[in-house]
Parts: sequence; C-alpha cells; structure tokens
Amino acid sequence: MKAIVCDRYGPPEVLRLEEVERPAPRDNQVLVRVHATSLNAADIEILGGSVLARIGGPFRPRHRIPGSDVAGRVVAVGRGIKRLKEGDAVFGDLFMCGFGAFAEFVAVPEDALMRKPDSTSFEDAATLPQAAKIALQGLRGRRPLKKGQKVLINGAGGGMGTFAVQIAKYYGAEVTGVDSIGKLEMLRAIGADHVIDYAREDCTSGGERYDLILDTVTRRSIFDYRRVMAPDGLFVLVGGSRYAIMQAMLLGPLVSIASKKKMGINPMNVNNEEDLRFLLELNEKGRLSPVIDRRIDLSEVPEALRDLSKGLVKGKVVVTVGHDDDYPGPDKGLT
Ligand SMILES: NC(=O)c1ccc[n+]([C@@H]2O[C@H](COP(=O)([O-])OP(=O)(O)OC[C@H]3O[C@@H](n4cnc5c(N)ncnc54)[C@H](OP(=O)(O)O)[C@@H]3O)[C@@H](O)[C@H]2O)c1
Repeated sequence: MKAIVCDRYGPPEVLRLEEVERPAPRDNQVLVRVHATSLNAADIEILGGSVLARIGGPFRPRHRIPGSDVAGRVVAVGRGIKRLKEGDAVFGDLFMCGFGAFAEFVAVPEDALMRKPDSTSFEDAATLPQAAKIALQGLRGRRPLKKGQKVLINGAGGGMGTFAVQIAKYYGAEVTGVDSIGKLEMLRAIGADHVIDYAREDCTSGGERYDLILDTVTRRSIFDYRRVMAPDGLFVLVGGSRYAIMQAMLLGPLVSIASKKKMGINPMNVNNEEDLRFLLELNEKGRLSPVIDRRIDLSEVPEALRDLSKGLVKGKVVVTVGHDDDYPGPDKGLT
C-alpha cells in the first residue's frame, strides 16, 4: 500500500510517499481502508520532535506513518473484535494509538473508532475526531457554556478554531475570533460576531470582558489574559508555546484557588464517544460544517503540512485517499 513515511524528526520535507507493507490487524484491532484523513497542527509538532513525541521516540519517530484523524471502512477484523464488523464505516482519532492515518490502510484498536452514519461524508468525518472534539471539550469541558456569554477564541481561523467558533455560536455565545487578516472574512461567514486581526490589535488590552477565553495558539503569558476576563471568567489553553503550556499547567491551578477567575489547560478526553456523537448530530443538523481549505491526495501531504505551518490554511486540509482497488475486501465500489 502507499503511505507517507517518516524516519527522522524534522520539517515536513522529511516525509516521503512510499510503498509499504499493508498492516495486519492484531486480535484487538480492525483493518481500516482509509477513505479520508485530515491534517492537524499537532502532526507538525510531532514531526518536529516535540517533547511528547520524544517521550516515545527519543531519537527518531516511534511511529513511522503519521496521521491522526481517520475515516474509512473496516475490511478485516482481529480475533477479539466484538463491536465492529467488515463493511462498517468508521472514524476516529489515532493520536493515542499509534497514528498511521496517512496511508491507504491502517490497523486500529476497535476502541479508538466509532461508526460513521451515512449522513456524514468520509471527508467531513475525517475533520472531526481531533480538532472539533478538542474544541468542544475546551468550550464546555470545565463548565457549561451559556447563551449570551462572551467568548474569545484565539487562533479562531485554524483547524480547531473554526469548529470552536461554530460550536460557541450553537450555544448562543457572543463570539470574538482572533486570527490573521486573511482569515477574518471567513470567520464572519461562519458566525463570529466580532473579529480581531492579531497583528494590529492586542486582544488582551481592549475594554471587553470575556466569560470564556479559548486559546489554541497561546504565545504570551497567560496572565495577560486576566485583564480581559470577566470577574468569574475562565481561560482554557488548548495549544501554544512550551512556556505558556507550563504556566497554565503549573500556575493555572494556583490562580484558580486564589481568585474567582479560573485558568488551566484543556480537559482532554481522547476517546469520548458522547462528544463525537454530539458533533455528528450538529453536522447532520447543518449546525457544524468543517471549513475545508482544500482537498489533496496522499502525495501532497508534505507540501500541505508546510503550508499549514506557514499559516496558509483556513480551517482544515482534507486528504482524500484513493485506492488502486486491487484489494479483495468488502469495500469494493463503496465510497
Ligand atoms: N490540548 C490538546 O488537547 C491538543 C490536542 C491536539 C492539538 N492541540 C494543539 O492545538 C493547537 C491548534 O491546532 P490547530 O490544528 O487548530 O492549528 P492551526 O490549524 O494551525 O490553527 C492555528 C491558527 O492560529 C493562528 N495564529 C497563529 N499565531 C497567532 C497569534 N499570535 N494570535 C492569534 N492567532 C494566531 C493561525 O493563523 P496564521 O498562521 O495565519 O497566523 C491559525 O489560523 C496546536 O498547537 C496543537 O498542538 C492541542
């Protein structure tokens, strides 16, 4: 099968499209024929040798084939599989179970997947498992999000942010989206009430006070945000510099004890089926649509990751995985 492979840490240029052996599912795994996957900023961070990546692979990537989000069809099952069967359309996030989605086939533990309804396309399903789920957990994971609340989303034009804007609007929040100038029109189009160009305006110095601040790209001290938090406001860090992450992890809980303002990192729950089911419902109702910047094939993954790292992507890049179709599985002809 064809797959994007990675034998050393580095920029997206170290990735190559290669012919590799198709994996065989272990007892607790199913073999998924990948129809679509999508890119995440986390792919670049892991490829670059982030702290998290080096815990598993100090000198070179532990997992040779990257890619977290997967949507496809089960074509073979391991001996211990009870819930899924051949032919099932499934999707999920492989972040905690070996990655491997940038390939024609991937072997995945059954627990990491849930069934995809026919009403949601493989492409849409491939955008949801990581970015939309984390956006949802960031927005309502620590406390319920209420109608009329003021929500600031920093990094609103990215993969996660574009979902966060739509989810916050679904809950009736008044949303301010912060991103680079080229993404602001799109943010208005998906529902943001106010937009801020981060190059021209510092969102931590205005007169507005926010009930919830969700930051996907924290680049400053988390204490700067205290100025624009409502008296009982909440700041949730989803991504950012190592410094900001350490601050939020170590000092956030102390701030939260000493003040009514609460600060901390995103409560992450990788295989939360309830959250994914909720996102599917929103997608089916037309209340949550991925902003798809472009559709590419596997060979274009390195270039698209490079564009993502340079801020040249609005929302998500979806990889549509074509097949030579010589696989004698139950998936022939199904899309
Ligand atoms: N905590 C978790 O559970 C978890 C899990 C997975 C991933 N993550 C993290 O979440 C983060 C976001 O992921 P993503 O896929 O949404 O990334 P993304 O698609 O690259 O989006 C980031 C957005 O932020 C914008 N941006 C860059 N610098 C900014 C600034 N100073 N102020 C405001 N906006 C800025 C970017 O626009 P320009 O480039 O045009 O400036 C881009 O639109 C990543 O760091 C990832 O590691 C967290």
